[in-house]
Amino acid sequence: MKKFKAIHVGCGGIADSWFTVTKNHPNIEWVGIVDLDVEVAKAKARQFGLPVGLATSDLEKCLRESGADLVFDCTVPSAHKHIVLSAVGKGCHVLGEKPLAESMADAREMVKAAQEAGVTYGVMQNRRWQPNGIQRVRAALDSGMIGQAHTFHSDFFIGAHFGGFRDEMKHVLLFDMAIHSFDQIRYLTDAPPVKVWAQDWNPPGSWYADGASAVAFFEHEDQIRSSYRGSWCAEGLSTSWQCQWRILGTKGSLMWDGEDGIEVEQLCGTEGLVRDCVSIPVPEVDANATPSGHEAGILNFLQSLCEGTQPATPAYDNFHSLAMVHGAIASAESGESVCLSSLG
Ligand SMILES: NC(=O)c1ccc[n+]([C@@H]2O[C@H](COP(=O)([O-])OP(=O)(O)OC[C@H]3O[C@@H](n4cnc5c(N)ncnc54)[C@H](O)[C@@H]3O)[C@@H](O)[C@H]2O)c1
Repeated sequence: MKKFKAIHVGCGGIADSWFTVTKNHPNIEWVGIVDLDVEVAKAKARQFGLPVGLATSDLEKCLRESGADLVFDCTVPSAHKHIVLSAVGKGCHVLGEKPLAESMADAREMVKAAQEAGVTYGVMQNRRWQPNGIQRVRAALDSGMIGQAHTFHSDFFIGAHFGGFRDEMKHVLLFDMAIHSFDQIRYLTDAPPVKVWAQDWNPPGSWYADGASAVAFFEHEDQIRSSYRGSWCAEGLSTSWQCQWRILGTKGSLMWDGEDGIEVEQLCGTEGLVRDCVSIPVPEVDANATPSGHEAGILNFLQSLCEGTQPATPAYDNFHSLAMVHGAIASAESGESVCLSSLG
């Protein structure tokens, strides 16, 4: 059984979703639990029954002295570059929280550093891992149920009162949340996005400093189009965190509520103003048989390390989801559409 000497960095809100999976994992030997505030790190160790003596605020020392070869990065986005460069510089594999980086230049530097160090660097995209949701949608599209899928519309509306780093963040919805939806679009389409037009704004009554609402429209290769409408200042009638989706194909449409509700209507008529369609059931999967969310992402990463393969969401590929985010932000700032190739 392979064992990795692991350091967890960043012991805030999302860390619980990680420790629940990692705390007793047989491939992990704990050598550090790090937070800027050592008391926060100690509290997290206590909460998950790990040795409090592993808690520290000094990542560099921990990396130097512990012999670590694996780092889980759950810090705020502005810290990701520093954590990843430090970790891969010491030969550690990294699985880090989204969004990968604050800029495309930073992302490029981080991905290159990991490649040069010969380590595996993955990004958590937990919303790809939903056996009865997005993975079922993907299977339905692959089966040709609606013909060739060509248009993907997603809606995200949740009034989310986090407090903390998001309150002051520029372009908060596009940067910290839409990365999930844009990555889902890439997972569902397989057609690389090439161009984006976007706007974001802060609606009246917003409790965020900037960009709590947004719309974005993408052109992809192969005549595919996708759209996103979202807000973190939408009180009432919440959508799922995975968005609500309507996908159009040449032979029908698919609607997904972002959870396990998927409806398909398939074209069967050949005449009339509006042609007849028939409802087709989408096969269920045994949701208990496969892990989902963070658990699935972390287990997939550990398995990839054990087998010497790439994880499902390596940073070099996630770079292209991040380009959708930074392209949308560049478009929102300039008022012009942006070719994603211009971002590098
Ligand atoms: N995948 C998801 O569904 C999901 C959900 C929530 C948050 N996130 C992401 O997880 C990350 C953390 O979010 P959160 O909500 O837990 O934030 P948070 O503010 O609750 O916690 C972040 C923690 O990191 C610590 N920290 C910051 N800089 C550090 C540094 N340089 N070294 C060590 N510790 C440092 C802070 O002290 C804090 O305890 C963000 O990137 C966020 O976008 C992902």
